[in-house]
Amino acid sequence: MTERIVLAYSGGLDTSVAIGWIGEATGAEVIAVAVDVGQGGESLETIRQRALGCGAVEAYVADASDEFADEYCMPTLKANALYQGHYPLVSAISRPVIVKHLVKAAREFGATTVAHGCTGKGNDQVRFEVGIQTLGPDLKCIAPVRDLALTRDKAIAFAEEKGLPIETTKKNPYSIDQNVWGRAVETGYLEDIWNAPTKDIYDYTATPEFPPAPDEVTISFEAGVPVAIDGVRVTPLQAIKELNRRAGAQGVGRIDVVEDRLVGIKSREIYEAPGAMALITAHKHLEDITVEREQARFKATVGQRWAELVYDGQWFSPLKRSLDAFIEDTQKYVSGDIRMTLHGGQAIVNGRRSDTSLYDFDLATYDTGDTFDQSMARGFIELWGMSAKVASGRDIRVAGK
Ligand code: ARG
Repeated sequence: MTERIVLAYSGGLDTSVAIGWIGEATGAEVIAVAVDVGQGGESLETIRQRALGCGAVEAYVADASDEFADEYCMPTLKANALYQGHYPLVSAISRPVIVKHLVKAAREFGATTVAHGCTGKGNDQVRFEVGIQTLGPDLKCIAPVRDLALTRDKAIAFAEEKGLPIETTKKNPYSIDQNVWGRAVETGYLEDIWNAPTKDIYDYTATPEFPPAPDEVTISFEAGVPVAIDGVRVTPLQAIKELNRRAGAQGVGRIDVVEDRLVGIKSREIYEAPGAMALITAHKHLEDITVEREQARFKATVGQRWAELVYDGQWFSPLKRSLDAFIEDTQKYVSGDIRMTLHGGQAIVNGRRSDTSLYDFDLATYDTGDTFDQSMARGFIELWGMSAKVASGRDIRVAGK
């Protein structure tokens, strides 16, 4: 029987050409699999037909947008995960869900190999292949752009020679990856890290310099997950989409960073994540009143480690699973409402309320009605400073010798 290869298909030039390129190089039949993670753009049926037109024996589209929002974006939100303090892991969290569907398709269509269109310089090759090793240890992996020397020039020549139903002339200088959690743009003019991004690279956000009137929004959470916007019940996917629209209109969530790739290269990336950044800001503020101090401090370091693991392609690792269990436990009381104003590139929280709040007005107030016994503070401070005071006495004594 002819060998079968499942290809992660985006509909773009590289993966369209890869269908025939892989076929010629290996003699295998190619099954194109596209995964809907809320990337928008072309209809998935158009993409499916293109794959067939480019020689795929089967083309399959997995609708994973709710699954992506529920099982990938929500854990990222609960972790307040920002890699290196900035990046909400847009591409990093989409790879594991794509891998899940690739492995599933490989089983359904009797394939022995999975192929993806990544180059050898990025993080995504690692995320795809580590994921495939974990979920389908018997499956082989190939990357035609990296392993079969499929360069862009060769791709254009191949497409023209074979008359493939794909545009080869419209040269976009940027490498773009997008889904409902955000959008990532790199390469081209942006590789000079002194160059400011030009207006044309943005798509999810309007320019914040000339914003419309401020937009006040109330986001309600239950156990760390958004469940209503302005009182209207929403699914996680609907919450992200609605905030992409409203926060995007105000230019919220533009991020311009140089980040450390797993392969050791520093790279410049422009992200737009209006919904994700508005949600993370709101969620963090709700945690501020509902999560106990020590748990909150520790959770910040856990969230950072979680972001690094996910960035580094360890979504399916045991440590990531253990950290998920910790984070989930912290979310039990993260329920309530956050009111925020979206305006001029910022999402600013200006009100919060929760039935499970730890904020105690009677303890906090400086007005009459204060229940805090201030006489307790003196002794507490004496003891709190004792250890450092003893050490400092020793330092002075030793220095004087
Ligand atoms: N640097 C980001 C990451 O590794 C985004 C990668 C995809 N970006 C792109 N423009 N193709 O997660």
